Amino acid sequence: MESVLFSNNVRNDLPEILRQFQLSRLGVITDSNTFRDCYPLVKSVLPDHAVFSFPAGEINKHLGTCQDIWTWMTEEGFDRKALIINLGGGVTGDMGGFCAATYKRGIRFINLPTSLLSMVDASVGGKLGIDFKGFKNHIGVFTDPETVIVASEFLKTLPHAELRSGYAEIIKHGLIQDATYFSGLKPVEWESQVWDALIRKSVGIKKRVVEQDPKESGLRKILNFGHTIGHAFESFYLDSAKHLLHGEAIAIGMICEAWLSNRKSGLSADQLQAVTDFLLTVYGHFEVNSGDIESIVNLCLQDKKNVGATLNFSLLRAIGDCTYDIPCSVEEISEAVQFYQSISQKALKS
Ligand SMILES: NC(=O)c1ccc[n+]([C@@H]2O[C@H](COP(=O)([O-])OP(=O)(O)OC[C@H]3O[C@@H](n4cnc5c(N)ncnc54)[C@H](O)[C@@H]3O)[C@@H](O)[C@H]2O)c1
Ligand SMILES: [Zn+2]
Repeated sequence: MESVLFSNNVRNDLPEILRQFQLSRLGVITDSNTFRDCYPLVKSVLPDHAVFSFPAGEINKHLGTCQDIWTWMTEEGFDRKALIINLGGGVTGDMGGFCAATYKRGIRFINLPTSLLSMVDASVGGKLGIDFKGFKNHIGVFTDPETVIVASEFLKTLPHAELRSGYAEIIKHGLIQDATYFSGLKPVEWESQVWDALIRKSVGIKKRVVEQDPKESGLRKILNFGHTIGHAFESFYLDSAKHLLHGEAIAIGMICEAWLSNRKSGLSADQLQAVTDFLLTVYGHFEVNSGDIESIVNLCLQDKKNVGATLNFSLLRAIGDCTYDIPCSVEEISEAVQFYQSISQKALKS
């Protein structure tokens, strides 16, 4: 598994790490925002390199952008000794890593995550990929980066909405593995949160889980808590004006799946309430039209984590204790979404 370095000074540490690699060429992949806000921080300490920047956003995490990246790699003459740095959030890491892992059957890459979400989640664990035909992460591979450098100084330019999005994965880590961690999390306070401690703790939880089950044949599935229904929300609203950030969609998914946990895996009513209250405090209420519920449920059925027609969920037995492969019926999933809709509706009306 990849090593993770926590850096307090990326301008010092990055060149130091790069010196350890024998490389023919260096390529940096950014999106339009991280090109503007993050690349200037490291540009002058990097050895000779080429840069590729694509327009920011999940909407660009598709095959067309990959073709542009592979074209750039080819035109730059990258051979198998080239090294790629993915400088950006989860979209850059997933797609830049996927392009590196498939170019000439795989060249090496380093992740330099710049969003909270990619620091605590996306950069670690080797899952790479792109969206396809409206399905999230539908095409992809497992390949570890050479290393991950987590430098929280990049967060200074990250918009608050994006901090909040990344926070959903931190909350998830508490919910699935560590009740004390969850209960210590504060509802908002974007300015005064001590991110370094949370990032270290969350990366530790993710690494521990992935190390035990790198290819997701069992335990790793618990990291999908909130994601089966959350991805359906994310996909459904992808092209709409009510577009949801990944973490915002996962927060809704966690409420729905906490409801399923109460039904199917023993999460107590009190704990369901605690999870729901905390997530609604942080993420607010999102309005769901009744007419959209069926389409959202249908999107769950396309989720790649399901074998055949059975829909397996990772659900909580209690806060801090998650189990996996719990089959749920389409009716139960629909009820879970209706549960979210009803609590949101009430709040929006009052
Ligand atoms: N591979 C995995 O294990 C894994 C895990 C979780 C999520 N993901 C994927 O990650 C993606 C979501 O990641 P994300 O939320 O980082 O999305 P993202 O990469 O789109 O970044 C979010 C936004 O913040 C901007 N940004 C990032 N860092 C910045 C900085 N330091 N300053 C200013 N702007 C900055 C980006 O340009 C973008 O607009 C999804 O595609 C999701 O599927 C992957
Ligand atoms: Zn996620």
